[in-house]
Amino acid sequence: MPNTNASPASLPEPRVKPTPGKAPAQGWSFFIFGLLFLSLVQAAERPPAAAVASAHPAATRAGLEILQAGGNAFDAAVAVSAALAVVEPYSSGLGGGGFWLLHRTRDGYEVMIDGREKAPLAASRDMYLDSKGEPVKGASVDGPLAAGIPGEPAALAYLAKHYGRLPLKQSLQPAIRLAEEGFKVTPHYRRMAAFRLDVLRASPGAAKQFLLNSQVPPVGHIIRQPDLAKTLRALALKGKAGFYEGEVAQRLVQESRRHGGIWSLADFRQYRVKERKPVVGRYRGWRIVSAAPPSSGGVVLLEMLNMLSAKDLNGLKPADRVHYLVEVMRRAYADRARWLGDADYVQMPLQRLMSMAYARQLAKSIVMNKATPSSSLDSVRPEGHDTTHFSILDKDGNRVAATLSINYPFGSGFVAEGTGVLFNDEMDDFSIKPGVANVYGLVGAEANAIAPGKRMLSSMSPTFIENPDHVGILGTPGGSRIITMVLLGVLEAVEGRNVETWVSRPRFHHQYLPDVIQVEPGAFDAGLKAALERKGHVLDVKRRPWGNMQAIHWDRREQRVEAASDPRGMGAAQVEPH
Ligand code: DON
Repeated sequence: MPNTNASPASLPEPRVKPTPGKAPAQGWSFFIFGLLFLSLVQAAERPPAAAVASAHPAATRAGLEILQAGGNAFDAAVAVSAALAVVEPYSSGLGGGGFWLLHRTRDGYEVMIDGREKAPLAASRDMYLDSKGEPVKGASVDGPLAAGIPGEPAALAYLAKHYGRLPLKQSLQPAIRLAEEGFKVTPHYRRMAAFRLDVLRASPGAAKQFLLNSQVPPVGHIIRQPDLAKTLRALALKGKAGFYEGEVAQRLVQESRRHGGIWSLADFRQYRVKERKPVVGRYRGWRIVSAAPPSSGGVVLLEMLNMLSAKDLNGLKPADRVHYLVEVMRRAYADRARWLGDADYVQMPLQRLMSMAYARQLAKSIVMNKATPSSSLDSVRPEGHDTTHFSILDKDGNRVAATLSINYPFGSGFVAEGTGVLFNDEMDDFSIKPGVANVYGLVGAEANAIAPGKRMLSSMSPTFIENPDHVGILGTPGGSRIITMVLLGVLEAVEGRNVETWVSRPRFHHQYLPDVIQVEPGAFDAGLKAALERKGHVLDVKRRPWGNMQAIHWDRREQRVEAASDPRGMGAAQVEPH
């Protein structure tokens, strides 16, 4: 039984699931009745189909292949994560990290596997500031100095060992094949590579792996990654040690240092996955389970839902509804900036932040006809794409929601030659100076300052929602906007709309600072915009939509499973009846 290293999130207890129990001792009739009852309970806990939704069709296929081979949702999560590390190199990878939220049907056990990157031991609070104390442009985003110690390989080994049914070697097989045989460049790949062309060119390892004669390769060009296949094989054969010890680790450290990084072998020896107790709350009869610190996702999500509980949203006119949601987002993100960081390093008032009493008090400060200027909220003062999510449900009802990242598109853009490993630039998720915005425009405070070995605060929010009739599994990439996307998705589910709507609905976002409502193109009509402006809101209508949500809905009442992949992306959602 894995060790539960609970975060200080002491929250409402998870609903206790019926545990397949002992048969009553007296008499056959009791025994038979017991068995019947048990099978009914189990039937209700078993979906009529399995499903995988991920951001890439090849990764979805990898997950289904492992399920068909007898693997459970956790084995499939290993296969999907590793496949995404190969075919979506701009989103996540062995050189990055993530959070895997698990629900095990057998005993209702729920846990978040924290494979978040950690600051190297040689990191220091002001490492991205110049002698005048100003941020050095690009230092926390480009090249190996921007990279935290990867957590994904350790997490995959851990998942297979503690939760899977199949050996790691088997679950990694589809990814190894994809790395060897290659995948086709898509228009999205081209956009991401063009965005990061300079850094990819600056790293000989990255240029060789991801470019063609130092240019963005054309659509249809095959990207083969033999070095990455070798590293995956080392992981498959030796487990965690295959990456964190021996040749691979030595090479990663050597290459990091040769190009201005500060990784050491000690960093690799010390890296551990953590089991975190997920944050759990309630909203209008639904149980919400989401990411614990070092993600801010679950805390901010629950804080927002708690504030929304006090209001009849459906009774509001459209402009008032958006206004109320925006004011709720603003307040919760202000708390994110002020309080949140790595639970292993900072004390956080989590219980208070997620209490109904606090939500009621915050909600009281919302004025219906007027935007609250963010500058009037008591938080820090102000002093910048890609990640991936997948959702899995297996035939036994086991669930995985996982959001994985290397932060910016193609991470730091640096590949350690000979390993195929693309380094993340997750260090930018720290607050590199109090009040200085990161690439997502997020500000932070002392709680999220850099310290050796510390995990940087994340917004990744893999989430489960559940009531007696429904189960939802969802999440998305999108930097600071992840949490509000999950909020909007949850609201769609609670209001009874289908899973396609959860992932496709138009989006808007407020993150406290900058003090604007970010709006997807076409999300608000002219009347709604004018009404919000009259209340004092500033609208920032973006040129591009955002997010790439992958969701599964199991309707227990109708015995139906549906899955959906965000139409903004190129993902694939597939339901497999059994
Ligand atoms: O952990 C985080 O919050 C960020 N590194 C996630 C970045 C992200 O989602 C980029 N996606 N578009």
